[in-house]
Amino acid sequence: FKTLDDIAPASRTVLVRADLNVPVQDGQVTDATRLVRLVPTLKELASKGAKVVVLSHFGRPKNGPDEKNSLRQVVPALSDALGAPVAFASDCIGKPAQDAIRGLEKGQVLVLENLRFHAGEEKNDPAFAAELAKLGDLYVNDAFSAAHRAHASTEALARLLPAAAGRLMQAELVALSKALGQPQRPVAAVVGGAKISTKLDLLLNLVGKVDILALGGGMANTFLYAQGVDVGASLAEKDMADQARAILAKAEAGGCQILLPKDGAVAKQFKAHAPSRIAAPGDIAADEMILDAGPATVAYYGEKLATAKTVVWNGPMGAFEIEPFDAATNAVAKIVADLTKAGTVLSVAGGGDTVAALEHAGVADAFSYISTAGGAFLEWLEGKELPGVKALEA
Ligand code: 3PG
Repeated sequence: FKTLDDIAPASRTVLVRADLNVPVQDGQVTDATRLVRLVPTLKELASKGAKVVVLSHFGRPKNGPDEKNSLRQVVPALSDALGAPVAFASDCIGKPAQDAIRGLEKGQVLVLENLRFHAGEEKNDPAFAAELAKLGDLYVNDAFSAAHRAHASTEALARLLPAAAGRLMQAELVALSKALGQPQRPVAAVVGGAKISTKLDLLLNLVGKVDILALGGGMANTFLYAQGVDVGASLAEKDMADQARAILAKAEAGGCQILLPKDGAVAKQFKAHAPSRIAAPGDIAADEMILDAGPATVAYYGEKLATAKTVVWNGPMGAFEIEPFDAATNAVAKIVADLTKAGTVLSVAGGGDTVAALEHAGVADAFSYISTAGGAFLEWLEGKELPGVKALEA
């Protein structure tokens, strides 16, 4: 695919598909990470003399425009991240958009209102994409985190204008390809989270690609249960035992070593500071729940991860939102961070709760690469083709 190095944006109107879908509370952006990570692309285009027009979705509006889903509330935070004023147009197509673009000087940045206020966006409607294409000369996609959606602004539009990947999209794809495309081996994946039912495709894909798969969180209970361990009152998907066994068999056949917890912190209540004890599998009472991996597991995982050259991380090792059941997530995260700092491991993390868990552990900055993507990162881990990336390659 092309990058900003391959286009000539001077004096052109460049439509930048960004992901401004950031968390907002009471009209205030509470985490500007995605905005900060977008800034290099906007600055580069602006400094090269482009008129920069930012397209994005926000939230999941179902019935047309509403204040709660307006991108207007994200503009001040984007302006802060950019260190320059950012203009806003009250619609992403038609006269409001055209007038705002006409008023834009070279080097200025404009945000158009939420694409999802038009049903054509999520339908990947060619007519809506054509309305968007009319607004600009060039198309840059910098929204890796929305690339799993085949929507008009991520898919159809890429085929209507000369298209290139922005710097964030480029960085995401380079990091992901280093992690699983052509990784330095051995490659280890650390996968946690509550359920295997939501990560079945991901686990099946990973066991065919990685050398070590370290499992944690509620999903590890399902694997233990599938191996005949009594997990007491723990979260476990008993109806997924066959699938868990199939994953274990595929791993064994393909030479992927699956790591399961050797011990866990067990408690009778799911709440912060619930009285707990460390128990081995086989020593869990009927009314006890495994809420975190234990110290023997951390030591075992640490030893195995130290043999890896590449580590991919998705999902916490336990109920990291409630103390002290964040202990294993914090400890394993710190091990990966230390290996990264020592230069022996390239570490890539992303998806849903993962970044929050690593930030909670205080080590997110030490990872080699943190993806801005949630769902797109998971689909990529599942080995799926992302429509927004594919359209750029066309
Ligand atoms: C995300 O936040 O993961 C992306 O912006 C995609 O949002 P969506 O799941 O509403 O399509």
